[in-house]
Amino acid sequence: MAFTPRVFSGMQPTGNLHLGNYLGALVRWVEMQETHDCIYCIVDLHAITASWQDPNELRQSIRDVTAAYIAAGLDPKKSILFNQSKVSAHAELAWIFNCTARLGWLNRMTQFKEKAGKDKENASVGLYDYPVLMAADILAYRATHVPVGDDQKQHLELTRDIAQKFNNDYRTQIAEAGYADGQFFPLCDPVIMGPATRVMSLRDGSKKMSKSDVSDLSRINMTDDADTIGRKIQKAKTDAEGLPSEEAGLAGRPEADNLVGIYAALENTTKIAVLNQYGGSQFSTFKKALAELAVSRLSPVNAEMRRLSADPAEIDRILADGARRANEIAQPILLETKRLIGLDG
Ligand code: TYM
Repeated sequence: MAFTPRVFSGMQPTGNLHLGNYLGALVRWVEMQETHDCIYCIVDLHAITASWQDPNELRQSIRDVTAAYIAAGLDPKKSILFNQSKVSAHAELAWIFNCTARLGWLNRMTQFKEKAGKDKENASVGLYDYPVLMAADILAYRATHVPVGDDQKQHLELTRDIAQKFNNDYRTQIAEAGYADGQFFPLCDPVIMGPATRVMSLRDGSKKMSKSDVSDLSRINMTDDADTIGRKIQKAKTDAEGLPSEEAGLAGRPEADNLVGIYAALENTTKIAVLNQYGGSQFSTFKKALAELAVSRLSPVNAEMRRLSADPAEIDRILADGARRANEIAQPILLETKRLIGLDG
């Protein structure tokens, strides 16, 4: 492939990050930072799509998520860390892609249906258009790899469809400009890997762990202290049986499957390795071990987040530096996109 490998991903600064964000995405981001050029965004324009955000809380949330990125192991010197609204190419390219994407494609997006709920007529246009802005985020850098949790799969398929249609709509101009294989935008690869690509609610194994769940007991927040983590795991829903010795024994037992997956991801191992160790144990024993493991992994991150948050000026400096570097990559790509379309006169 003609494209230089480049990683892009992002998280919304709405409330606390939770264990799903951490295990489903952040942990992989930190790994990929060692092998790839990485750009990690705080997607503040996405944050205002679902509901009105208090401006002071939004401002604070942008800094908190930045602190969480760094505390989890992202190095602002190696990776580019910035917030989306500081790089105008995202919004500009989103407009261009609004004219590439088809209504029928957006009508199929399951996350919009879930988030808009029954009152679809009252959802913001931004919520509907959310996946197009996401495509612009990725393609503004011509990123090739996008590490995310399982819930983003459909959005990344849409990103590929948009890239492909753009490449096709402007194939003559793209060929004239000499791009290899007629591709100006890459068809990015989703990176959805490991035992915790879909961390479920601790209260209901059929629901995704989410910031918007009304029950705080349903999730472990990255800001939770050791006691809270222990209590939430102890109260996590399970079934009456003990742990099975084989992975097949987790079938039809979503809560057990979820806790084993969380353990495996925290320990950086596989579910079967966890079952080799705990198969036949009661949940009380397993939950105790899981709580200890979760605290040992999350407490240092939590402490570092608090240390970083005490210096907002330093966080703002990191974000400004990241935005400058992100702009240097995105601006020429936006200009070239406009030139291909004929918007350069
Ligand atoms: P957000 O903020 O909802 O989620 C951030 C990341 O966390 C993952 N995630 C989970 N993974 C496993 N189990 C869970 N329960 C869980 N909950 C969340 C998400 O899959 C995501 O990777 N639309 C994106 C933000 C975005 C983006 C982008 C991502 C905007 N532009 C461009 C990649 C590339 C989102 O849902 O964020």
